[in-house]
Amino acid sequence: MTAKMDTVSYENLIHREKVHGSLYTDPAIFQAEMETIFHNGWVFVGHTSEVPKAGDFSRRQIGKQPVLITRDRDNNVNLLLNRCTHRGNLLCNRTNGNASTFTCPYHGWSFGVDGEMRGMPMLQAMGEGFDKAELGLAHVPRVGIHRGFIFASLASEGESFEEYLGDAKVLLDRSADLSPEGEVDLSAGWLKHRFKANWKMLPENNTDGYHVGSTHSSMLMATGSANSGAFNDEMGDPSVIRDWGGGHTELDFAPRYRMSGRPFQWFGGTRKSKLPKYMAAMEAAYGKEETEERVLAGPPHAIIFPNLFLAELNITYFYPVSTNEVIQYYTPLLLKGAPEVNKRAMRQTEGAMGPGSFLLPEDASMAERNQLGLEALTPEWMDLRRGLHREHIDEENGLLTSSVSDETTNRAFWSHYLTMMSKASSRAGSGC
Ligand code: FES
Ligand SMILES: [Fe+2]
Repeated sequence: MTAKMDTVSYENLIHREKVHGSLYTDPAIFQAEMETIFHNGWVFVGHTSEVPKAGDFSRRQIGKQPVLITRDRDNNVNLLLNRCTHRGNLLCNRTNGNASTFTCPYHGWSFGVDGEMRGMPMLQAMGEGFDKAELGLAHVPRVGIHRGFIFASLASEGESFEEYLGDAKVLLDRSADLSPEGEVDLSAGWLKHRFKANWKMLPENNTDGYHVGSTHSSMLMATGSANSGAFNDEMGDPSVIRDWGGGHTELDFAPRYRMSGRPFQWFGGTRKSKLPKYMAAMEAAYGKEETEERVLAGPPHAIIFPNLFLAELNITYFYPVSTNEVIQYYTPLLLKGAPEVNKRAMRQTEGAMGPGSFLLPEDASMAERNQLGLEALTPEWMDLRRGLHREHIDEENGLLTSSVSDETTNRAFWSHYLTMMSKASSRAGSGC
């Protein structure tokens, strides 16, 4: 089934207990998602630690649109459209680096890292009264930064950054609060995986606790936790899933870690004595009691809608390519002021997310198989009713919560998706 943006009735395709398979395969829906979610909503773009010095830049995309994160001489972080203002050439094709200016290779116009036009060959032909200031690079209209995480919206109006992030900002805090300096560092470089699946399978999978025992059984066996009851609520795993609103979702392992009473379970069960400098720095910064809680609970495992995955010791984002293709990027979550942790985190990322690893290839191959399975058009619907009868509002935080293997997070994703897409669809249909 394919349809034009203004003829799709998302209410008919998305129900609380099931979603329609065409949501992953219809090119018109993909186009509408790019426009509504990626070009008009808020998305994650990068982190300020990727551009620490004046002149640093990092090349990214917002949906399909190429952008540059730059730091200028006044220490401002800019988000610039990566498009020459002369005839539209891609201004910079390097992944990252340091530059005083960007010079377009086509006719040689040059721009500062702040976006201002610096000059062009044979300026006289532009005529009298020409003002270079008119032809500076376009800035992304709205940028929001929380704990160094950079988000952007290409729409100049709409939901504010604070409204978009909502209460889920505490998830970003939970990552940064593991650093004695209160800051994460995402400058280690990004592993890149391109695979044949619809982008929505990533946020759906990332906070799905149900698949772990099956998809990642080889990892559970290799780490000796196959019979531990982890990820199995029937065997007593007290981990929970949460709907933070706005499509942000969480799979929180902290209850299991707290039950074990042992710190650093999220870090392979490392003993405190192996990280003496880290523990001393944390205690100096936050006190003994608060440090104990932080190293017990660990970093978050959560999605910030639509494209940021706080994957405990990794950070992930992705670019949708088409209905059945996506590019995913991973980097280790490094903590400022914590070299003992960082050295090990790098190795852990290689083992979990690299090409010869367990976790990421397993998830990617499931996503590709999912996409292939959806080529069969019968049955039309995908079932999402798991745990519907037992999800509940957690009185402590007011969030919809359920057991680790339930599909509350998937339902939360689709509920927000439906809100965004049906609003856009009704605007398009009304001719506004
Ligand atoms: S397109 Fe960039 S200078 Fe002409
Ligand atoms: Fe997984």
